[in-house]
Order: sequence, then structure tokens, then C-alpha cells
Amino acid sequence: AAAVAVTGSASGIGRAVADALRADGRRVIGVDLHDADVIADLSTADGRSTAARGVLELAGGTLGGAVLAAGLGPAAGRERATIEVNLLGVTALLEAWRPALAVTGDARVVVLGSNSTTTTPFVPRRAIRELLRGEVDAATRRIRRRRGLSAPVAYAASKIAVTRWVRRRAVRPEWAGAGIRLNVLAPGPVLTPLLRAQLDGPTGENVRSFPIPVRRFGTADVLASWALFMLSPAADVLVGSVIVVDGGTDALIRPSTS
Ligand code: NAI
Repeated sequence: AAAVAVTGSASGIGRAVADALRADGRRVIGVDLHDADVIADLSTADGRSTAARGVLELAGGTLGGAVLAAGLGPAAGRERATIEVNLLGVTALLEAWRPALAVTGDARVVVLGSNSTTTTPFVPRRAIRELLRGEVDAATRRIRRRRGLSAPVAYAASKIAVTRWVRRRAVRPEWAGAGIRLNVLAPGPVLTPLLRAQLDGPTGENVRSFPIPVRRFGTADVLASWALFMLSPAADVLVGSVIVVDGGTDALIRPSTS
């Protein structure tokens, strides 16, 4: 089978996905800042081109799938980088990889979203529209005006924008019509180095008091199992879906959304 590209393959969910795919006999091309087949910094335009090109070279022009798991968590002062990695680090790569994904007529792509898209208050809607128009400077300025909340707002905005980007593209002839299934996996808190940094950081108490009905964090291995399912034949007609795997938080906060 054709290779699967995995971004964020050096840690957490991306690493668990890469390991599980390899254990399944799939060829994986990992992208990360370190310990990966393609070393690239997805927070810069140059880094994104390096990543896009490097993967296509190693893949020989054909990709069977991709899992976009590279990401930055909320951190004060890092709003811009969070948007670049979490949004552009997905959209720029998928645009560059689309022809390679179309080759088999049967590719599947999983983008890591987050349940923060539905659980974070005060995300300015105009910033989302700006992000979807590629106006990253304007959106970042607007998000920074949220002052003390700008880090979680930047994170949620990056995930809302990437989720909408996926749902808009997923149904188009160039994607679904070419057999490329684009879907989003939206976890709640998962115990990885990203969450560990949140728990140990200045807002650790807020993270700990986040209501999770099942009263536990997810693990990278469990999320990797969902990603593999979304890459499997079972996902044949899964297109543009947001699969929320979050211990019940989204249902708790939005019981009337069906
Ligand atoms: P992690 O921190 O364990 O792994 C993320 C990987 O992305 C790291 O290996 C890191 O080096 C890489 N990365 C970060 N910035 C990069 C850059 N500029 N260029 C290239 N690679 C870069 O994080 P985790 O928890 O595995 O997160 C994976 C995805 O799941 C992220 O998109 C995250 O937003 C999402 N997610 C995670 C949740 C959690 O609680 N851990 C909850 C909801 C979503």
C-alpha cells in the first residue's frame, strides 16, 4: 500500500499513530521538528514547503493517506505560531499533497482538531473568517485583544478554522470526488507532553477543573486507534465528519446540539 504521511510523528498522538501504522505494516513518512523522516518547522512558510516537498520526494508521488497531528497547545505569547502550525501546517501541506493523495483514488486523511472548538468562549467570529481568508496578521491582532484569554482563544480559533477548512474542502470534486476522504478527529484532553505542559503551567488549575464526565484523560494510544479506524476501509463513506472523542465534555456543554 502507498505511504502515509504523519506530521507531529515525534511525540504524543502523532507518534502513537506512526507506531501503530508501522506495526500494521504500513509505510510511514514522519514530519516533525526532530526525530522524523522529514525535519521541518511548520510555523514558517519555508518550513511548510520543506515538509511538503520532502514528503512527496520520499513518497515517490503517491500517498495513501495522511494524519496531521503536529500542533502547539495554548501558550501566552505564542498565538501567531499556534495559528501557523495548527492551521497553515495543515492546509498548506494538504494542498501540496492533494495530487499525490488523488493517485490511488482511495486515500484517507485525518486532521487533529479539538473539542476546544465547541467549549472555548470568546472566540471572535471575525477572526475565524479572517483566518479562512488567509488574513493571519489581522486575525492574530484581533485575538491578542482578548488579553488574558488570547492563548486559549488563539488555540481554539486555529482549530475552528482548520475544522471548517476541512469540512468545506471535503465535499468538493477535487477531494471527495477524487476519492480523498478528509475528516477531523477532535479529542478532549489527552495525556501527552502537550497536555502535561498545560497541567504544569500557569493555567494548570483551569485545565484540571475542566469537566470531563468520564473523569479521565484520553491516551495517545486510544486516539491513535481512532485515527487508524478513520484510515481503514470502515471509513469508506466517512467524509467531512468531526469525530469527537472527549470523555463527554462536548455533550455536557452542548446537550441540545444534535
Ligand atoms: P505533542 O506535543 O505530544 O506532539 C505534537 C508534535 O507536534 C510534537 O512532536 C512537536 O514537535 C510537533 N510540532 C510542534 N510544533 C511544530 C512545528 N512548528 N513544526 C513541526 N512539528 C511541530 O502533542 P499531542 O498532544 O500529541 O497533540 C497532537 C495533536 O492533537 C495537536 O494538533 C493537538 O492540538 C491535538 N490535540 C491534543 C489534545 C491533548 O490534550 N493532548 C487535545 C485536543 C487536540
